[in-house]
Amino acid sequence: MYLRTQVRRDVRILLVGERDVGKTSVILSLVSEEFADVVPPRSEEITIPADVTPELVPTHIVDYSAAEQGETELVEEVLKAHVICVVYSVNDDDTIERISTYWLPFIRQTLGEHHKVPVILVGNKIDLVDYSTMELVVPLMSEFAEIETCIECSAKTLRNISELFFYAQKAVLHPTAPLYDSDKKE
Ligand code: GTP
Ligand code: MG
Repeated sequence: MYLRTQVRRDVRILLVGERDVGKTSVILSLVSEEFADVVPPRSEEITIPADVTPELVPTHIVDYSAAEQGETELVEEVLKAHVICVVYSVNDDDTIERISTYWLPFIRQTLGEHHKVPVILVGNKIDLVDYSTMELVVPLMSEFAEIETCIECSAKTLRNISELFFYAQKAVLHPTAPLYDSDKKE
């Protein structure tokens, strides 16, 4: 038996999510290492050279903005992505609701019901609250096996911003098997 391993020469990270959750701010905070009060609706595609990424692989970061892009463009970007970050705002329950009612179904509809593109749930604006949304989002992992991990961050304080992109790279380069396989017998 031959085992074929796929070697990726780059990583393409797409950020999606409801309006105003901070997708553009998260990207620009990573790149400039500081929070900008005013950001454009959509960041340019950013390429981070291999030597400054934790996994030493060139990494493209792609923003999505409903204000500037239609659904056709969103579909095209979802098809090209190696990992998709679904961003929500920890202080806005509607943006959490939309993860399971819109974003994850939309991604499945685009890539296929059993697609293997890892998804990371990103709770931004953690600086605004003194609670965690983990107990709301972690249960989604049992319904949607494509969710690789959940992380809370703040584009404003930079908390967990570089970690987020590290997790995204890692999800592509070192995919993990599901932690729990309900079919597996002891
Ligand atoms: P669209 O492009 O319209 O979809 O929005 P977006 O998801 O790109 O959000 P954007 O980065 O434009 O941020 C929306 C608002 O939230 C702006 O006023 C930001 O300054 C603010 N914001 C973004 N991230 C944070 C954060 O971590 N903390 C706080 N307090 N505000 C943030
Ligand atoms: Mg934006």
